[in-house]
Amino acid sequence: MRILVTGGAGFIGSHYVRTLLSGGYTGADDWSVTVLDSLTYSGNLPNLDPVADHPRYTFVKGDITDVDLVNDLVPGHDAIVHFAAESHVDRSILGAAQFVTTNVLGTQTLLDAAHRHGTGRFLHVSTDEVYGSIELGSWPETDPLAPNSPYSASKAASDLLALAYHRTHHVDVVVTRCSNNYGPYQFPEKVIPLFVSNLLDGKPVPLYGDGGNVRDWLHVDDHCRGIQLALRGGRSGEVYNIGGGTELTNRELTKLLLDATGRDWDQFVTPVEDRKGHDRRYSVDITKIHTELGYSPQVPFETGLADTVAWYRDNRDWWEPLKQRASLEK
Ligand SMILES: NC(=O)c1ccc[n+]([C@@H]2O[C@H](COP(=O)([O-])OP(=O)(O)OC[C@H]3O[C@@H](n4cnc5c(N)ncnc54)[C@H](O)[C@@H]3O)[C@@H](O)[C@H]2O)c1
Repeated sequence: MRILVTGGAGFIGSHYVRTLLSGGYTGADDWSVTVLDSLTYSGNLPNLDPVADHPRYTFVKGDITDVDLVNDLVPGHDAIVHFAAESHVDRSILGAAQFVTTNVLGTQTLLDAAHRHGTGRFLHVSTDEVYGSIELGSWPETDPLAPNSPYSASKAASDLLALAYHRTHHVDVVVTRCSNNYGPYQFPEKVIPLFVSNLLDGKPVPLYGDGGNVRDWLHVDDHCRGIQLALRGGRSGEVYNIGGGTELTNRELTKLLLDATGRDWDQFVTPVEDRKGHDRRYSVDITKIHTELGYSPQVPFETGLADTVAWYRDNRDWWEPLKQRASLEK
């Protein structure tokens, strides 16, 4: 099996590629991987250093919106695992154009190529944010999409395009919609690595609004295992929610991170104006992936978070240049 992994130099894509090539997925020992990534600000080749010399790994620097490149590359592959995206909500509020270009047009370019060349499975990595915000209960996959940010709207558009290519052109599409991920190698603009790196440096952390927004935190390893299950066993044209992590308010999460880094609330937490259109709560129902594919999260939040904080403590060389890169852009 030869798979094309888009966005494989980012946080989640690189975790998937490292795990796959180090034998972490049963039955995938002979799979070869091509990573297609344009290395935007959040794409980082060192994320793939552990597999850089692997004989079944190839890296291609390129953009998923480049029709010629994508049509050259796709024919050599049996499946596409599509992670590449603009992924940060705050950036989408400052400017949505790149989100539409990459997330919508890029996905359409890949779907066209998959259709034209008769590629096998197209696993589209989507997000729970496409459902909007939910006060109580959890979304099943059948709930209507009601995205609120330009990021989630662009992801919803690409998610629906992927499903439309299944219905119209019979492309073998499976969509996964996952909750918030955490773990090593996450770009330090997202809340957990931003807060941990600030606190390790003795700097304050910005807490949006009243801090009451609720997220379901899932370790990246659990997300990637769900993706692999859906890639191999998911039914064509179906959507699978992935989640079942730990629901926490941002205040609760902040307190845990302060405790883990030995900092106190009064000195290190700066309340800031709430994010525009800030979704209050996300929560996915994972019954479908659990009953059909046997998925359950395996990383306990307490150990996952402690390991993640330790990883950032031990890997300053990885995040310091990225933080500098992010601040130079502003
Ligand atoms: N982070 C989360 O909590 C989360 C949760 C659910 C779903 N997702 C989805 O998972 C996917 C990966 O998210 P992430 O957190 O790893 O993001 P990330 O920002 O860390 O990685 C995105 C990767 O895509 C690459 N990329 C961006 N535009 C590209 C383009 N035009 N052509 C080629 N490559 C391009 C970047 O260089 C980067 O390597 C995204 O589709 C995101 O919507 C993320």
